[in-house]
Amino acid sequence: MDIDWNKLTAAATEAMHNAYAPYSNYPVGAAALVDDGRIITGANVENASYGLGLCAECSMVSELFRTGGGRLVAFACVNGQGETIMPCGRCRQLLNEHAAPNMLLQTVSGIKTMAEVLPDAFGREDLNQ
Ligand code: THU
Repeated sequence: MDIDWNKLTAAATEAMHNAYAPYSNYPVGAAALVDDGRIITGANVENASYGLGLCAECSMVSELFRTGGGRLVAFACVNGQGETIMPCGRCRQLLNEHAAPNMLLQTVSGIKTMAEVLPDAFGREDLNQ
């Protein structure tokens, strides 16, 4: 499947503008290409009880299932300046759960595979014993 990284970054940036980040003042937008061709997005949603804040990837994965499920083929996330940032460690695990084989991520050091950003991941297959 052809990946339009500019389109994905633009979708993440658009989503970032809907973030609710009054505590960190660090809005984040996330976007992914799904294996059926659709693009899903998410933004971070913080909370007065700080630890309850949701990363942009969390709302993006909710959107994945709300709109029919599927597997993530490509992913990008951006900060308030529209610059590419890395998904946090927890979100790498979240993305790995729903990754298509050979999923690619736009990172601060170029396009990488899921396995490169989360080596030797613990995943669903580990529970099939
Ligand atoms: N954040 C995300 O939404 N995704 C990430 O992968 C990195 C961090 C959010 C969480 C918090 O609302 C803000 O960025 C500052 O950490």
